[in-house]
Amino acid sequence: MLINRVRKFFIEFFKKLIEIVTKTRLQIMQEIKFYSGENIPLELHKVRIVQKLNLVPIERRLEALNEGGYNTFRLSTMDVFLDMLTDSGTNAMSDNQLAAMMQADDAYAGSQSFVRLQKAVEDVLGKKLLLPVHQGRAAENIISLAYVKKGSLIPMNYHFTTAMAHITQNGGKIAELLYDEAYKINSDHPFKGNMNIEKLEEVIKHHGASTIPFIRMEASTNLIGGQPFSVQNLRDVRAMADKYSIRLVLDASLLGENAYMVLKREEEFKDSTMGEILKIMTGMADLVYFSARKLSSSRGGGMCTDSMVIYKELEALVPLYEGFLTYGGISIREIEAMAVGLYETLDETMICQSPSFIKYLVDSLDAKGIPVIKPAGVLGAHVDAMQFCAHIPQTQYPAGALASALFLISGVRGMERGSISNQRDEYGNETYADMELLRLAVPRRVFTLSQIKYVEDRLNWLYENRLLIGGLRFVYEPPVLRFFMGGLEPVSDWPQKLMAKFKEDFGESL
Ligand code: F0G
Repeated sequence: MLINRVRKFFIEFFKKLIEIVTKTRLQIMQEIKFYSGENIPLELHKVRIVQKLNLVPIERRLEALNEGGYNTFRLSTMDVFLDMLTDSGTNAMSDNQLAAMMQADDAYAGSQSFVRLQKAVEDVLGKKLLLPVHQGRAAENIISLAYVKKGSLIPMNYHFTTAMAHITQNGGKIAELLYDEAYKINSDHPFKGNMNIEKLEEVIKHHGASTIPFIRMEASTNLIGGQPFSVQNLRDVRAMADKYSIRLVLDASLLGENAYMVLKREEEFKDSTMGEILKIMTGMADLVYFSARKLSSSRGGGMCTDSMVIYKELEALVPLYEGFLTYGGISIREIEAMAVGLYETLDETMICQSPSFIKYLVDSLDAKGIPVIKPAGVLGAHVDAMQFCAHIPQTQYPAGALASALFLISGVRGMERGSISNQRDEYGNETYADMELLRLAVPRRVFTLSQIKYVEDRLNWLYENRLLIGGLRFVYEPPVLRFFMGGLEPVSDWPQKLMAKFKEDFGESL
């Protein structure tokens, strides 16, 4: 009786959700114009739970930087005003997600919450077999343990820090195969995340398909500014994978936004639904993995496939490293939130909010001559520190310096995505990043437009005073993923000078 009522409740719940999603889709298809002619991204949600923020004085911000080794990862949120470090685990959750969390079926094995997640993965990502993991990099660990060995080469559009670290930890190497256009800061190419197909074939021929356990495609290529790839490009990669019998692995952490960009930018899909595009993309991969911290605005992660062979190759590692196969180290409540969050990625009014705020910020910065990656991508706005701080050599980490300087003068916490985030080569030599970026993440439905305008305003001031920013040097460098906990110091007293100029211009204003 009770089971039937619970089942009925969930069937009704998901029906309602799909109905809401379909209705809201119609809303966004007609863009909402302002009578004034201004191009303003309008929020299609209301805020019902809020969290108070602190904007501490600049003197305290300087102390915080000194305590945190000029590394924004090491700041306390007590000192942070706008947290633009990442969208990972910081996207706003919906009322439906929170409601679903209350229904969690807490069980070590055989939880019905996991059954609901499996159904969501099948409905949204089109894959029948799911292995849960506690977050995206746990999937990277398991996939690398299963397939990568000394001498393996993994071709990819571009690396992500944790993906690369797991591959190299297992003795493998990576080959990054973007087109040259991807490295241009100022571009109007709609799909800078595309894999260079000619280079891919060259690499396969040169290294031999037998040394390539899989090709990795990363949706909305994170480290080059959240830039998507096209469906056509994925088709070409799939054809190459078929030609040489190599597995294709899709990192779907930012797939929702990539699908949205396909909808907006790839002619063939202009009348498609998010659901159709998502399934076309996942349908081409043998194995899909994701960080649910990004994809479904929850916590957790997963690996999914239709191949029983692949499933079996990975299955045993999940209980060993993560947890039993029906929770994988994720709290059961988050599993419920993940299932609902996956359905919500089909909702354009949700998925478009972050990219449209990013575009607003990128366009405003660009209009002021501030160097930013164009076209606007997903995840965040990416300021080009190589140009912004052209006077700071790469040996003194311009992107890290810019991240520190922006925090000092605004309380806005961004993330260095440049040489500090790179790892040393196998001989211990420093490797300099292709791009020195300050990433300002715009998590889904978290910030208001006036907060975005504050960021624009402070960056504008900083740009005018950019020559006051100086370089950084390491004082503590961990051997793996050094950017997380590494400690740095300024090469001169530039932070004090920058603070003095701020006080001169802003007086007692925070
Ligand atoms: N793949 C991509 C493309 C990512 O952006 C991330 C995380 C991961 C894998 C790893 O997932 O954090 O759940 O273990 N990106 C975060 C960021 C950390 O800030 O961009 P995770």
